[in-house]
Amino acid sequence: MDFKNVIFEKEGKLALITINRPKALNALNSETLCEIDCVIDKVAEDDSILAVIITGAGKAFVAGADISEMRDLNANGGRKFGILGNKVFRKIEKLEKPVIAAVNGFALGGGCEISMACDIRIASSKAKFGQPEAGLGITPGFGGTQRLPRLVGTGMAKELIYTAKIIKAEEAFRIGLVNKVVEPEALMDEAKALANTIAGNAPIAVKLCKEAINRGVQTDIDTGAAYESEVFGECFATEDQKEGMTAFLEKRDKSFKNK
Ligand code: CAA
Repeated sequence: MDFKNVIFEKEGKLALITINRPKALNALNSETLCEIDCVIDKVAEDDSILAVIITGAGKAFVAGADISEMRDLNANGGRKFGILGNKVFRKIEKLEKPVIAAVNGFALGGGCEISMACDIRIASSKAKFGQPEAGLGITPGFGGTQRLPRLVGTGMAKELIYTAKIIKAEEAFRIGLVNKVVEPEALMDEAKALANTIAGNAPIAVKLCKEAINRGVQTDIDTGAAYESEVFGECFATEDQKEGMTAFLEKRDKSFKNK
């Protein structure tokens, strides 16, 4: 299936998703959101894909939700648009495979928000981050009020959101919004190397780690620890656990089967 605003490629064990609306700096209109939703479904169904990279075409990662689509919305339309964006980003967050955002440029509003729905953010030194919504008369609507404080703390998130200021990649790294900053030309290689390292580990274990961390940060430590014990136990029902431990004890390379 071909998409208008999204490029979907497979490279070995990786899926590369490029948001491709460069004339509008990859701004997210409803059509693009629906295409991303569809691509994530394809990725979920494909057992040969073990890690995912999301990036943007041209000079922007994603410059936000589409302002021209939003301008004339009424309250109900705004609510529906917010629900759509949140649904798609939550699908990324809940995808049972690791997702890396390779942030090549502007990650503003919905762009910062989609990067935060990913597991890990690698940024080009040219990238810029921010939640400019308050300056447009709206709140962040695709998860910014929820994920930014979870990532950088409440005080820093409030400062960024209330001021609508745009920060450079280095500052985003300093506050813990991104994992690493690299030279622009090294971005995709770094993201792919990281994705391949992850894809070399036991896929079911990585999936369960994602689930345990995502659940755990939303709950109290007793509930989180109980869930961790559950998934820890589940791992022992997999062939890959036997393979990983046997390979270690036999001092040989492991060969995981995603089983
Ligand atoms: N929506 C729609 N179109 C956008 C857009 C957006 N978010 N961001 C950029 N564009 C369009 C511009 O209108 C322009 O189109 P034309 O060529 O037809 O005029 C084109 O992309 C190129 O943009 P600029 O000429 O502005 O490029 P620049 O390099 O001078 O500036 C920028 C880059 C600083 C990122 C600037 O484009 C900008 O400030 N964009 C808006 C950023 C923003 O406010 N994002 C938040 C949106 S609200 C949101 O995301 C809500 C939510 O949480 C769901």
